[in-house]
Amino acid sequence: MTADEMKKKAAEAALEFVENDGGVIGVGTGSTVNHFIDFLAGVKHKIEGAVSSSENSTQRLKAHGIPVFDLNATGELSLYVDGADESNRQLHLIKGGGGALTREKIIAAASKQFVCIADDSKLVDVLGKFPLPVEVIPMARSFVARELVKMGGTPVWREGFITDNGNWILDVHNLQIMEPVKTEQQINNIVGVVTVGIFAMRPADILLLGSPQGVKRVE
Ligand code: 5RP
Repeated sequence: MTADEMKKKAAEAALEFVENDGGVIGVGTGSTVNHFIDFLAGVKHKIEGAVSSSENSTQRLKAHGIPVFDLNATGELSLYVDGADESNRQLHLIKGGGGALTREKIIAAASKQFVCIADDSKLVDVLGKFPLPVEVIPMARSFVARELVKMGGTPVWREGFITDNGNWILDVHNLQIMEPVKTEQQINNIVGVVTVGIFAMRPADILLLGSPQGVKRVE
């Protein structure tokens, strides 16, 4: 079974969390979420619409006729469904491979339940093998990079990529993130950092992992 088939299985399993209450749900970004959006189209009568974490997801939602709302107009969301680049067993995540980490973190914080969907290769013992995305204000790029080097990382500028917020991304290699909450706070405190792709202060609530044996659930 390919990784994409496993992602699709996890995405389908997340439909179970979409309640029949006509509410607005949060929708993340990435190839796994793209499958989720396609499945969501089949049950769109159950929801009023979605808050989207990226221009890409917004386009896909709208193409399926799913209304997209501004988070400022919705209040707290009952459900957020998004993918991840890595997860540990505490459901601390690394996110931002697709560069949408800031809006993703805002929607996760504004949601009661965060359901994370992925293929089972994303489950790791220690976060950090996947280069950690950090969104920065463009003029702070070099300064933030030097601070990340002091922390033991090797930041690489994702050259040519501009986030939906007009900022830049540093991908930090060679970090072994033993204390995700502490590292998230430390990187948040560097001036010029917009968002760090560690989701530990607000982890996922449920992780659905697609695998050849079916969908595994970690809570
Ligand atoms: C985007 C993300 C994605 O959720 C993450 O990169 C996983 O992507 P995929 O579902 O394509 O494996 O954080 O910013």
